[in-house]
Amino acid sequence: NRRVRARDLLAAKERGEKWPMLTSYDQYTAALFDQQGIPVLLVGDSAANNVYGYETTVPVTVEELLFLVRGVVRATSRALVVGDLPFGSYEEGPTQALRTAVRFMKEGGCQAVKLEGGVNVAPQIAALTGAGIPVMAHIGFTPQREHTLGGYRVQGRGDSSEDVLADARAVYEAGAFAVVLEMVPGEVAKRVTAEVPIPTVGIGAGPDTDAQVLVWQDMAGLRTGKMPRFVKQYADLAGALSSAVAAFSDEVRSGAFPTVDHTF
Ligand code: KIV
Ligand code: NA
Repeated sequence: NRRVRARDLLAAKERGEKWPMLTSYDQYTAALFDQQGIPVLLVGDSAANNVYGYETTVPVTVEELLFLVRGVVRATSRALVVGDLPFGSYEEGPTQALRTAVRFMKEGGCQAVKLEGGVNVAPQIAALTGAGIPVMAHIGFTPQREHTLGGYRVQGRGDSSEDVLADARAVYEAGAFAVVLEMVPGEVAKRVTAEVPIPTVGIGAGPDTDAQVLVWQDMAGLRTGKMPRFVKQYADLAGALSSAVAAFSDEVRSGAFPTVDHTF
């Protein structure tokens, strides 16, 4: 009964076994996902949107994420917990990246970190893996750069598929143990998955990656409104919670709750 390790994920790829990954930002979801056997939990910088209410992932800080990482780590015993390095915490170079990643490992207690970028962050990935910190890379559409990329857009269409391939090779060669492919054409994700020996984790990248990740509030239908096409909703938590809140509210107003059963 130990935590999943990077090498287990590599072995799964070699056996052709797919695996699921979810984000988590708090103890209840972390414990539940862990019990359901989700092998990798990501404390994503998408907490910016899904926990802290920012419009983009740009403002979220290392400190804001570290609080959440600690909660997820404390609530789990099997999952490999990956902490997402936020915008501004690694771009300056390997020294800054190492300083931030060490904080995630020591103060957050996670077992790996993730950062966005390919060829351009290969030196950072090499520094971290050289220091014994497992790194998950993230290429294709990288939300921390949405202002440069011009919003949420598919990356790697046409000739730029070669850039995605080059990024994948660069992060593999720099020592990453896995790579997230976000919003790239299915054919490109399939090629990357065949060409790099490390597991690929798709989000909006089609069916041929080694693993799939979704933001849990999207997957469980807690977030409402316009959803990206790659999201599948497996539950209606917003509906379930709305009904519960409405029932509680009505019963308090009518005096139906509490009864003698709830009274000392
Ligand atoms: O922050 C996040 O949620 C992510 C994934 C969805 C890959 O980076
Ligand atoms: Na992220």
